[in-house]
Amino acid sequence: MRTQVVIVGGGPSGLLLGQLLHLAGIDAVILERKSRDYVLGRIRAGVLERGLVDLMGQAGVDARMKTEGFVHDGTLIGYDGEMFRVDFAHHTDATVMVYGQTEVTRDLYDARDATGGDTRFEVDNVVIHDADTDAPFVTFDQGGESHHIDCDFVAGCDGFHGVSRKTIPDAVRTDFEKVYPFGWLGVLSETPPVNDELIYANSARGFALCSMRNAQLSRYYIQCDTADSPDNWTDDAFWDELRRRIPAEAAETLITGPSIEKSIAPLRSFVTEPMRWGRLFLCGDAAHIVPPTGAKGLNTAASDVHYLNQGLRQFYADGDSHGIDTYSQKALARVWKTQRFSWWFSNLMHHYPGQTDFDKKMQLAELAFLRDSPEAQAAMALNYVGLPY
Ligand code: APR
Ligand code: PHB
Repeated sequence: MRTQVVIVGGGPSGLLLGQLLHLAGIDAVILERKSRDYVLGRIRAGVLERGLVDLMGQAGVDARMKTEGFVHDGTLIGYDGEMFRVDFAHHTDATVMVYGQTEVTRDLYDARDATGGDTRFEVDNVVIHDADTDAPFVTFDQGGESHHIDCDFVAGCDGFHGVSRKTIPDAVRTDFEKVYPFGWLGVLSETPPVNDELIYANSARGFALCSMRNAQLSRYYIQCDTADSPDNWTDDAFWDELRRRIPAEAAETLITGPSIEKSIAPLRSFVTEPMRWGRLFLCGDAAHIVPPTGAKGLNTAASDVHYLNQGLRQFYADGDSHGIDTYSQKALARVWKTQRFSWWFSNLMHHYPGQTDFDKKMQLAELAFLRDSPEAQAAMALNYVGLPY
């Protein structure tokens, strides 16, 4: 069997790339290790930058997002019992869209079904061969049978634990990593959001975030120990702790209810360089991870997809390889800036074990500077709505 591009991984990166390539008449086969239901069951962040909103439009999958998503033109930052607002629309010409990653993925699968695109679920033992030659191929097992696909290019969209990144030899690749000494305990509940904009709260007891999916579905997080388990937290204990960490005016109006999902995510910053090896290109979590503060994971994946889509289109349209040759450089330039923002925002908002009184004063001074300085707010707003591609 032969196709133009094998896409390893049917998460949002692989699906968005597949859809954009399809619209350019470029054939792709998507190989996904899990079932479709499993992929659609994962709960991830839900804030889309303007760039991703535009890409959803280009991919023709923005209809539901436009009706069900919420445009947010600012966010609240809580500390020291009070809140201030960063107004994105005032400081930039842009806003963000609150729309769950699960919904993005569902819309992309629906679009893929409509195009009749070849998507293989529950595949095993994906191996990428000869990526450093002009004739790469991919082998995999499915339903007890072995398969072989010849292709022009391989897009490694298989997340942090995938095979694509590891296909690039150690001698060629450099990994950069920072692991944070805490995690986020997240709860999804069928309750109205406490506020119509997100609230990021720094408190002496640790970070908290009030987010949402829609008018009847809220998403809340509290910073927790990396060794903690969701089983240690009853719903009541979670709500009590959340209330202690957010400013009183929000705590007083918080509506609580049973959790419908509760999980802990570790926090990590990770980048691999380069993002291309021969005819293999890494996209999204396969190449980089950000801590969730600021919700840049999916958004950074989207900018990779944008650069790769442009490069491949240029190659197939007129044989010009400039776009794919500069892919890694362009993607990484933006990835590192987004890493900086996610790292800065994480440092600003969390309580660190072993933090000295001086360190705490620095955090508070930086928060006060952000509260009082329009220039600092403009810098935050620019990053939050998303740096240009
Ligand atoms: N073979 C085939 N598929 C694989 C393999 C493999 N060896 N390993 C992993 N996969 C699949 C996973 O099952 C998953 O569905 O690749 C997909 C990768 O999807 P994500 O982890 O969601 O990564 P990505 O598509 O890059 O999405 C970007 O943004 O908010 C962040 O981490 C969040 O998922 C999000 C990401
Ligand atoms: C979420 O809604 O899950 C979310 C929102 C903003 C973040 C992180 C997560 O910064």
